Amino acid sequence: MRNLAAVLPDVEIAAIAPVIAEIEALKAKRNAVVLAHNYMTPDIFHGVADLRGDSLALARMAEETEADVIVMAGVHFMAETAKILNPSKTVLIPDLRAGCSLAESITGADVRLLRQRYPGVPVVTYVNTSAEVKAESDICCTSGNAVAVVESLGADRVIFLPDQYLGRWVASQTGVEVILWEGSCMVHERFTGAQLREYRAAHPGIRVIAHPECPPDVLDEADFVGSTAGMISWVEKNRPPKVVMVTECSMSDNVAAEIRDVEFVRPCNLCPHMKRITLAGIADALRHMRHEVKVPPAVAERARLAVTRMLAVKP
Ligand code: 13P
Ligand code: SF4
Repeated sequence: MRNLAAVLPDVEIAAIAPVIAEIEALKAKRNAVVLAHNYMTPDIFHGVADLRGDSLALARMAEETEADVIVMAGVHFMAETAKILNPSKTVLIPDLRAGCSLAESITGADVRLLRQRYPGVPVVTYVNTSAEVKAESDICCTSGNAVAVVESLGADRVIFLPDQYLGRWVASQTGVEVILWEGSCMVHERFTGAQLREYRAAHPGIRVIAHPECPPDVLDEADFVGSTAGMISWVEKNRPPKVVMVTECSMSDNVAAEIRDVEFVRPCNLCPHMKRITLAGIADALRHMRHEVKVPPAVAERARLAVTRMLAVKP
C-alpha cells in the first residue's frame, strides 16, 4: 500500500485496509480519481490519492484528467476550481463543510465595490475564494505563482484579494503597489516570529521554511518562503539535516514519510476544514456520488477566464 508503512503502524494499516480496498474498487467502477492536497492526512495522502499537490498542481491535474469523476480531497474552493475547469465532469467533495477562512472573508459584491473605488486597477484573486469572487476578478493566482501572475500584468498597482499576508509578501517581492483586503488564513496567522526564533534557539542549525499565508514577522524569519509544493521541493533539493515547515501540520507527516534523511520538527497547527476530509468520507462520496459540486454556468464561464489566464502564466 504505497508509502503507508512509513507513516502508520501495522495495526492501523490493517484497520484501514478494507476501506482503502473499497475506495480502489469504487474508483475503478466510477472511472474516478482522487486528487489530494498536501494537507491531507497520511492515510489519504499515501493510501488512496491518485494525484497530489498544491492548489496550482491540483488545478492543472483537474484540467488534464481523463477520469469522469474527480473526488477532491481538499477544501471546497479546490473542488469548485476543478468544476470550473471541467464543466462536463462530475466533481465530488466528501464533506461540504470543508471551507476556508480566506474564501469566507469576501463576496462578489465586495469585489464590485472595490472596482468602483479603484477604477481600472486590475483585480488579482487568490484561488482560495468562491467561484462568485473569481468571476469578478481579472486573474487568479495561487501561492505558487502569485509573484509571476502579478508581474505578468505589468501594472504599477493591483488589487490583491483576499489574503493580506500573501498580498504583502507579493508586494515585497515585486515592488508592485498592492491594495489589500483584510482576509487571512486561520491556520497560518497563528504562527509568530517569536515562535520561529524559539525553534532556532532550541535546534541550532535548523532551517525554517514558511508558507506565504503567514504574517510578515514570520516570513522575515524564514530561510525560504513558498507554496506547499514549493516547500516540499525546497526540502527535496536542499536536504537540510533538520527543518521546520511553518504550515499545516499534516504536510510534515506526509513529506517525512518520503524524505527519510531529513529530521522534521513539527509544530502542529491543523486546518479544521482540511481535516473534514476522511477516508470514510471519500468512500461515502464514491458510494453515493455525493456531494456534487456545481457552479452556475454563467458564473463558471467568467470564473474560468480568470483561472485559465492564471494557468497561462509561465512560472
Ligand atoms: P498551496 O497552494 O500552497 O497548497 O496552499 C493552499 C492552502 O490552502 C494553504 O493554506
Ligand atoms: Fe484555508 Fe488556511 Fe485551511 Fe488553507 S489552511 S484551506 S488557507 S483555512
